[in-house]
Amino acid sequence: MKTQAGWRVSLLKVKKKWLFPASCIFFFLLSVLMTGCFLWQYHLPKLKTGSLGPEVTAAPVRMCPQHPEPVPLAHPLPVLKEALEKVDRILRQALPAPGLAAMSAVVIHNDTVLWTGNFGKKNGSDPASGPPNEYTMYRISSVSKIFPVLMLYRLWEEGTVASLDDPLERYASSFTINNPLGMASAPKQQSLTVGLEEVGPAPRPTPVTLRRMASQLSGLPRRLRSTSLLWRGSTQEALSLLKDDVLVADPGTRCHYSTLAFSLLAHVLAAHTAHGDYQRWISENVLEPLGMADTGFDLTPPVRTRLAAGFYGSGRPAPLYDLGWYRPSGQMYSTAADLAKLAMELLGSSPKRLLRPDVAKTLLAPLLACPGAYFANETGTPWEFHMQRGYRVVRKDGDLDGYAATFSLVPSLHLGLVLLLAGPRPPGPDLVAQAYDVLLPAMERALREAELSPAPPPSAHPFTGYFTFANLTFYEVRAGPAGELRLRQFGPRVEALVPPAFRTLSLRHLRGRVFQLHVAREFPCMLPLGDAWLSLEAQHGQLVNFYPLDDHGLSPGFDVPGLNTYRVLRLLRKPVFKTQ
Ligand SMILES: *[C@@H]1O[C@H](CO)[C@@H](O)[C@H](O)[C@H]1NC(C)=O
Ligand SMILES: *[C@@H]1O[C@H](CO)[C@@H](O)[C@H](O)[C@H]1NC(C)=O
Ligand SMILES: *[C@@H]1O[C@H](CO)[C@@H](O)[C@H](O)[C@H]1NC(C)=O
Ligand SMILES: *[C@@H]1O[C@H](CO)[C@@H](O)[C@H](O)[C@H]1NC(C)=O
Repeated sequence: MKTQAGWRVSLLKVKKKWLFPASCIFFFLLSVLMTGCFLWQYHLPKLKTGSLGPEVTAAPVRMCPQHPEPVPLAHPLPVLKEALEKVDRILRQALPAPGLAAMSAVVIHNDTVLWTGNFGKKNGSDPASGPPNEYTMYRISSVSKIFPVLMLYRLWEEGTVASLDDPLERYASSFTINNPLGMASAPKQQSLTVGLEEVGPAPRPTPVTLRRMASQLSGLPRRLRSTSLLWRGSTQEALSLLKDDVLVADPGTRCHYSTLAFSLLAHVLAAHTAHGDYQRWISENVLEPLGMADTGFDLTPPVRTRLAAGFYGSGRPAPLYDLGWYRPSGQMYSTAADLAKLAMELLGSSPKRLLRPDVAKTLLAPLLACPGAYFANETGTPWEFHMQRGYRVVRKDGDLDGYAATFSLVPSLHLGLVLLLAGPRPPGPDLVAQAYDVLLPAMERALREAELSPAPPPSAHPFTGYFTFANLTFYEVRAGPAGELRLRQFGPRVEALVPPAFRTLSLRHLRGRVFQLHVAREFPCMLPLGDAWLSLEAQHGQLVNFYPLDDHGLSPGFDVPGLNTYRVLRLLRKPVFKTQ
């Protein structure tokens, strides 16, 4: 996407220099890649490299915008109801899987719980046990890794952590580990002090940074040398075990799952907080503010009575192991209702703000693509990302003796799905992916159908009238029935080439003299125009900045900076074109 934008900009520069004084027709005939003639942007189809004969381009038209706008929905919506019934069936059908005793799930959209599903028995070995509900507790195992990451971002926001890219040594001075795979040489500059020393400074290893630890990119091994998840050492002991250990990848270069990284991150950062205790910090700064009263670390007797009983695939009850030093990576229990609150918080739709919106956005961003053998397409902090139906699904999965859990979000749709299992994940197709296969198209349809009417400006008068760009393109701005503005492009060439439906765009009023171009709810990303392509996608959402009003209360013109289009100036009267 970025490179494409860069491409456009450079082409537009070319246009400014060379195409400007020339006639549009001329350049059309010469098949120049892009001209500024009508709707500002034209693309030619990819240059036909070498191939002869007719190129059959019967490819389906790609529709834009790729993702619908996240407009508020008026529930209930039949299309969503139908999809949720399908999700219910998918989960219900999975229940007979070996060892799976209970299942609770919740689907949220923005600040609304759309659906909860509860299946099986809370205690699978008790025939009289009732079904679980959204307040039934489950172990969430590796979903616990979200919490050290929340701590990292909060401490960063507060300034306790100076940068996410700080090396771990800055917070744990005794941390060292061998990095046999990477030796970044020292900055080149120093070798410019020629003659003084031939040796140069010692090469510095690539740092194990906080961000890399939080995103499976640290190169740290899965666990500390020959420890199990039940290891009960201290962080000092952990650091001394690491001294003689090796990184399994040069940091930042390869996705490699590490449970160790999250526990180390949690304990090291906690040492820089008031009470020096990770669990206490999480309780006071995350669980309490979000009202996640049924989430925690300690499997106390009252918690055990509310916990769904976990089983192995054999049907044998699983013991409730206590993870010791590895607790931050997998000890926690929670409920579907509590994790729904966390999902709303991360989607930015809960009234409580744990993180600033820009920080939350960084937290949800992918960091590195993981080709080949890794189980996800990309990693982030602490997420695994999977592409599905054109959407990036943000996931954290957990699997531990007797339990499995998935916490997932689709930020571009403000959608979330939490699935908690008492028992192993059923073999066969992934349940969460199956659910999204149904939910994504339904949510997309619901959002596309919920059209937002374009906001009108307080007064249309200053902006209406005729405008031109260098006498090459002509526009009329006029008010629609509800006072909303429409921008119509006209002139003989536009009328010959552009279908009527796409000659007029809405101007949504944002604030003051600024409007936003809105092509349509859904439209073909590119329109074929003879030899060229018109990119409607490039125009959708661009800002139109009208100039300050003149003595007559009229705006003398406007710019569209996002399309590198400036000085579209007011005409005193409707232009008349000579017919050819
Ligand atoms: C999401 O929820 C927030 C908080 O209630 C609300 O302000 C916002 O308009 C909602 N957005 C959508 C797209 O529904
Ligand atoms: C589940 O039920 C069985 C049989 O009644 C009982 O022995 C066991 O303690 C129960 N487990 C839990 C976690 O309540
Ligand atoms: C994403 O990962 C899946 C397996 O997890 C793989 O089948 C698929 O090809 C990957 N897609 C991309 C774009 O890497
Ligand atoms: C556009 O055409 C009109 C009338 O032919 C002329 O007066 C005006 O200077 C032209 N403007 C530009 C920017 O070329």
